[in-house]
Amino acid sequence: MPVDMPMSMPTLLPMAVQLLDAVVGIEVRAYPFPWSRANFVDSIAAGHLTHCLVAPDGELLGYQVAMAGFEEWHLLNVTISPDHQGRGLATQLLHRLIDHARSTGAEWLWLEVRPSNVRARRLYAHLGFAEIGVRRGYYPDAAGRREDALVLRLPLQPAVTAEDAAWT
Ligand SMILES: CC(C)(COP(=O)(O)OP(=O)(O)OC[C@H]1O[C@@H](n2cnc3c(N)ncnc32)[C@H](O)[C@@H]1OP(=O)(O)O)[C@@H](O)C(=O)NCCC(=O)NCCS
Repeated sequence: MPVDMPMSMPTLLPMAVQLLDAVVGIEVRAYPFPWSRANFVDSIAAGHLTHCLVAPDGELLGYQVAMAGFEEWHLLNVTISPDHQGRGLATQLLHRLIDHARSTGAEWLWLEVRPSNVRARRLYAHLGFAEIGVRRGYYPDAAGRREDALVLRLPLQPAVTAEDAAWT
């Protein structure tokens, strides 16, 4: 669903309802177990932080959804269109989230990732996330069983050292 925006650089917009067709279109291509449209509607209704990255021609390039907690944030979804991966777009989106989370005074940004998602794990490692735990059987897998989730967190404030981030 094109959005008419004559700009030279991708722009960041909140996830409005009129972007949801494009969001779900990317989601079903990007994941074997995609979020449903209702999941995104619920996130918007809950007031979660949402960012959509939109190209100058109106094409949706990617999006993220994050939830605020007490002195922490939780990344719920970050996805880049399969047509635009490997261009630094997720890095760009996540920096925006990190800056926002930091500005709220929060101490940590948390996320879960499949151990098999090597690309995403490398991206998070580059951004400074530390793998600190495992949630057993968190995700469904293609064989009808469950896959564990790695739990990662990023320290947001200077007082929190890299050693703190990697506690066991
Ligand atoms: C994981 C995902 C979000 C990464 O998005 P992305 O935009 O491709 O990520 P980036 O481009 O920012 O970084 C990925 C790689 O591209 C490289 N890169 C950054 N800028 C680049 C550029 N201008 N040109 C080429 N490559 C670049 C990065 O160095 C990084 O390299 P690496 O693979 O060696 O780590 C994306 O692959 C995706 O949507 N996957 C499906 C959904 C998913 O798994 N989401 C995460 C769930 S936890």
